[in-house]
Amino acid sequence: MNAKVGVMGMGVMGSSLALNIESRGYNVAIYNRGDELTKKVKNNNPDKNLIDAYTIEDFVESIEKPRNIFIMVTAGEATDYMINEVLPLLDEDDLIIDCGNSNYHDTIRRSEFFENLKVNFIGMGVSGGEEGALKGPSMMPGGSKEAYDRIRTILEEISAKAPSDGKPCVTYIGKDGSGHFVKMVHNGIEYGDMQLIAESYDIMRNYLDLDVEELADIYQKWNEGELDSFLIEITSEILRKYDTKTGKPMIDVILDKAGNKGTGKWTSESALNLGVALPTINAALFARYISAMKNERINASKILKGPDINIPKVSDELIEKIRKALYFSKIMSYAQGFTLYREASKKYNWNLNYKEIASIFRGGCIIRAQFLEKIMEAYENNPDLENILLDDYFMNIAISYQDAAREISSLALKAGIPVPGFTSALAYYDSYRSERLSANMIQAQRDYFGAHTYNRIDEEGVFHYKWDEEVEENWNK
Ligand code: 6PG
Repeated sequence: MNAKVGVMGMGVMGSSLALNIESRGYNVAIYNRGDELTKKVKNNNPDKNLIDAYTIEDFVESIEKPRNIFIMVTAGEATDYMINEVLPLLDEDDLIIDCGNSNYHDTIRRSEFFENLKVNFIGMGVSGGEEGALKGPSMMPGGSKEAYDRIRTILEEISAKAPSDGKPCVTYIGKDGSGHFVKMVHNGIEYGDMQLIAESYDIMRNYLDLDVEELADIYQKWNEGELDSFLIEITSEILRKYDTKTGKPMIDVILDKAGNKGTGKWTSESALNLGVALPTINAALFARYISAMKNERINASKILKGPDINIPKVSDELIEKIRKALYFSKIMSYAQGFTLYREASKKYNWNLNYKEIASIFRGGCIIRAQFLEKIMEAYENNPDLENILLDDYFMNIAISYQDAAREISSLALKAGIPVPGFTSALAYYDSYRSERLSANMIQAQRDYFGAHTYNRIDEEGVFHYKWDEEVEENWNK
């Protein structure tokens, strides 16, 4: 029996991906460093067409040529290890697909390396966790287009399908690191969505004093409207679960220290390097960092007092304002994320198709949401849209929901509830819509202390003002 594809890495994600491919009628060769996991996957799935291999030679031998080999291991060294292990045994036209959460810089490096070889390489972002990998993830492949076309059918078969039109949640993203870049920013956006939901929860639970069941009902209702999304849905479900040991709501027994595996940090780093304003995603990342300083926060909480709090009367109207504030902030976060796509596309010549990116996020991935249809429509109407806020739908929501966003942020600020996501979203909106910002003061200060020069509003040229002598010089002359 020969395999149509091979999967290297039999951890949770790799084995789920292998079983997904097998479920579409393909024989799949499986391999891992160390025999144990491969044996376990094989033994747990005796009826499946999995060809278990315990040497790299047997693994490669068992796959039909030209070979398609998916690598699903922890990003970084383990990926290089697997590539180096299998590469010497491969033939012309074989294809390696790195499905890990690889840093896109690594994918660019690997793509350059493979350019001189006869073996093809694709760096593919995969989103959806274990269940996604098993039943249908959202996939973002970048690299050789010819190689993509060869495995396109398999990828479309194993992918999630968008709920509204059944389209596969996979598309060719672009060359070299583009697929992993798109996945990385997906994760940054995921951080933003999660933080904003957590802030809405904080306001309602710890300020308005609603209980978990009331909150679960609110999120459930929100999930039927504009905010309809996987993350809102699971938030409602989380709030309905109770600890078997203490009987308390699960949410109350979970320590308030957020972890991270680095893709959110990479997103912020890339925005810093590309000169893109990403305040809401940054705020989400920093909120995780400050949450992790638990011991320091415990000490500080005994010393640093907050404001006196007046709890407002809870009404449907107030809850609706929180919903609007959340939707407003979510739009700002996506406006930032898609601007980052645009700037990266320019810098790396990726020619990203923003409508397609929104389209493949509609199913399978963590940020799947009905709202992505609106982003698709915005780019359908104008593929060169500078910022989604300039699209009619988003513009109208931003303008009409801003009052709610301002009111809820003010309430939280007055009550001492940290809402860095909400406030950063408002600051982004107010900065982006300002014809004139206070940066003239920054430029004046830079010129004053360092002769860093400035431009004038009324004349071309680079100027320096001799602040003591009150004389302006045109440095172009
Ligand atoms: C996905 C997720 C996934 C990510 C986890 C955890 O799209 O399936 O983004 O790739 O690893 O969500 O990420 P953090 O540990 O950084 O929160």
